[in-house]
Amino acid sequence: MKVAFAKPEIPASGTLVALAADGRRLGKLAGQLDKATKGAITRALEASRFKGGAEEFLTLLAPAGVDVARIIVAGIGAPGKYDALAAQSLGGRLVAALNGTGEKDVSVWIEQIGDMKLAEAEFAANVAYGARLRFYRFDKYKTKEKPEQKPSLRHFNVLVADAADAKRAFGPMDKVVDAVNFTRDLVSEPANVIYPETLAAQAKTLTELGLEVKVLGVKEMTKLGMGALLGVGQGSSRESQLVTMQWNGGGKEKPIAFVGKGVTFDTGGISIKPAAGMEDMKWDMAGSAAVIGTMRALASRKAKVNAVGVVGLVENMPSGTAQRPGDIVTSMSGQTIEVLNTDAEGRLVLADAMWYCQETFKPKVMIDLATLTGAILIALGTVYGGMYANDDELARQLEASGKATGELLWRMPLAPAYNKMMDSPAADVKNISGSRNAGSITAAEFLQRFVQKGVIWSHLDIAGMAWADKDSPTNPRGATGYGVRLLDHLVAKHYEEA
Ligand code: BES
Ligand code: MN
Ligand code: ZN
Repeated sequence: MKVAFAKPEIPASGTLVALAADGRRLGKLAGQLDKATKGAITRALEASRFKGGAEEFLTLLAPAGVDVARIIVAGIGAPGKYDALAAQSLGGRLVAALNGTGEKDVSVWIEQIGDMKLAEAEFAANVAYGARLRFYRFDKYKTKEKPEQKPSLRHFNVLVADAADAKRAFGPMDKVVDAVNFTRDLVSEPANVIYPETLAAQAKTLTELGLEVKVLGVKEMTKLGMGALLGVGQGSSRESQLVTMQWNGGGKEKPIAFVGKGVTFDTGGISIKPAAGMEDMKWDMAGSAAVIGTMRALASRKAKVNAVGVVGLVENMPSGTAQRPGDIVTSMSGQTIEVLNTDAEGRLVLADAMWYCQETFKPKVMIDLATLTGAILIALGTVYGGMYANDDELARQLEASGKATGELLWRMPLAPAYNKMMDSPAADVKNISGSRNAGSITAAEFLQRFVQKGVIWSHLDIAGMAWADKDSPTNPRGATGYGVRLLDHLVAKHYEEA
């Protein structure tokens, strides 16, 4: 689907979208179309429950008096409350409504109505952004689809007075969509296709954008003493990898670092998971995919920031070489870990990936992303991701970026009493608390033991956010790409030089 911006003009074909506010207040275009169609819109309004609310569409097929095949009057609700996210939702819902109809071309006529604060160019760019985000589809393995089962939209035209301004505003958003879709593809791929080496190879392709990408294998990681990460991967026939990505778009500032859990498949290991639903564990690398996607977004829009991404890539398998419950491993930090449950593997991977990140890049801020616990799903479901932070300002920034992008975060507590639950009688720390209580928090406390003094750190438990069972306005069901929009926004807002 091609996105284009042009000056307002009634098109000769396709679908034309006009706006209305709450209380059935038609925008200028809708009023104009009502006249051109001899009152067809007014009659349709009378025949419907359409009120102009922010989620409502009123569709007129083959209206007389105009050449277009279809008119959609799209509600925007209260104009004063209309914001960028609402505009994204409009774009996404239009794609969803039209993609199965056979329609090829849609033109959305952007205008400010009433006391709308959202500027026209921003409105236009965000409609296009939402449209592209929703248009995503992972269908490369569906070889038998008939043409009428495929998405039909080819052109998404945004008609707006200042088309040049809108196009300029859309530039970086367009790059972010590419990055989100890259992440979605990585997460959607099955584990026989995406495993540590192939995921590392995907990260390597980003050198094209000016990112410096390095890949460490088992030999290098053994030298570095990464016993925690390597222990998780030792049962797999796939070689574990650690990938670093550097973007030097800033001055001499210390970087902001992103660290991702990349378990390309999580069987649980010897502490094996039940069969039902185990296929979901192909997306246990979503944290690493979000980090890779964020680095892609920053590089492709040439962000003025120094950023690094570090991802630990392993496959957690049971086998004759797999680690056993009770094994004690030595992490790169020197701390010994008693592995009481081989299914609590993500934290073991992150312990070494985070330590390596801090030793190598001396970041001022480090944010890790991981599909870490089922417990965060129990606590927050699929609406908010869980956020932990050792710094209130970073927590506020993350929360605000979550609100602004729709990738919501809820701050969870850290406290010494939770930390104590991870003390091991046999080693420095154990990888499970042994209690069913506070499972996401104790996982975060485990990670905190691998955060160096003075490093501002946040952990995002995204187990509930990486995959969606149903469509939402800007995310078709499946891999969401959660984290890319959030972190790109965080960087743009707080970490880029002016
Ligand atoms: N990858 C899982 C967490 C997960 C569960 C992600 C469901 C997405 C959906 C993680 O490695 C895991 O298995 N965690 C265990 C920890 C437990 C053994 C302490 C869990 O949450 O059950
Ligand atoms: Mn696990
Ligand atoms: Zn896992």
